[in-house]
Amino acid sequence: MNDGGGPKGSGSAPAAVEVGVRSPPAPRPGGGWDGGMTSQEIREETSRTRDETLTGKVALVTGGSRGIGAATALRLARAGADVAITYVSGEEAAEDVVRAVEARGRRAVALRADFADAAQAAGTVERAVRTLGGLDVLVNNAGVGVLGPLESLSPADVDRVLAVNVRGVFLASQAAAAVLPAGGRIITIGSCMTQRVPGPGGTLYAMSKSALTGLTRALARELGGRGITANVVHPGPTDTDMNPADGPYAADQAAMTALGRFGTADEVASVVVFLAGAAYVTGAEYAVDGGHAA
Ligand SMILES: NC(=O)c1ccc[n+]([C@@H]2O[C@H](COP(=O)([O-])OP(=O)(O)OC[C@H]3O[C@@H](n4cnc5c(N)ncnc54)[C@H](OP(=O)(O)O)[C@@H]3O)[C@@H](O)[C@H]2O)c1
Repeated sequence: MNDGGGPKGSGSAPAAVEVGVRSPPAPRPGGGWDGGMTSQEIREETSRTRDETLTGKVALVTGGSRGIGAATALRLARAGADVAITYVSGEEAAEDVVRAVEARGRRAVALRADFADAAQAAGTVERAVRTLGGLDVLVNNAGVGVLGPLESLSPADVDRVLAVNVRGVFLASQAAAAVLPAGGRIITIGSCMTQRVPGPGGTLYAMSKSALTGLTRALARELGGRGITANVVHPGPTDTDMNPADGPYAADQAAMTALGRFGTADEVASVVVFLAGAAYVTGAEYAVDGGHAA
């Protein structure tokens, strides 16, 4: 996906490009989310890096089977949380993440939920609560990118992107708000394209992600009295299946950042987990974009 730039319009009626719905990736060398680490290596890494700030907490990460969501699930587990993740078609990848969380001594479950469906998006929180016994942190990460020249985007494209990227986030947040205790967190993944759109092709995606800033600010006001925070994280070009660092528009995107490179999913996840532990940050936007907006 060309999240930092957008395909250039060329010729007449080019098709919109849908990204983020491809099949799960082929297994990485060594397999799974631990790059082939042995159980002993995982235990050593965990004891070295675990900070336990989220011990006893339960987190739900939507779209946690791959990319930024999977990296976030692992970081949350390392910080001590039990983790529910959702996926839509990548069951095997989701089970890999579950096993990696469990290898860190935490409980985990993978729930299938297509956020294009309102009932599934709304029902995910209750399923996570039923399985893991509560909810303290919701990470609204699931999203799709549909990019292309304005004239190529159909009403069906608009409906689908808004359903997954906006309505699904609203419904999951609404369901979470009903059960989150004091100290609860809602962390939503936006996009650097809410801050700066560096080229054509991003109208629909940027519109959908920009709605999340308004939602976050309003949630912060609505839930602040209960001690619940809401924040939004805006990744820049981040190397995932949605937007591979060797993709066709990758060089242009990297050049648009101050650091001159893509970010990693783990670099985004580290800020999400920071916000999961931050009590006095709410209604805030965090750019994790290598200076894309600078
Ligand atoms: N990568 C970037 O450069 C970038 C930049 C800015 C913002 N973002 C945002 O960051 C978030 C994560 O992106 P990513 O790059 O990690 O994407 P990714 O690697 O494509 O992963 C997308 C995740 O969302 C799930 N998903 C896809 N369609 C869904 C649907 N209809 N309902 C529920 N879940 C669905 C996928 O599940 P399956 O595995 O089952 O398909 C997967 O877990 C997205 O909101 C994206 O817009 C990404």
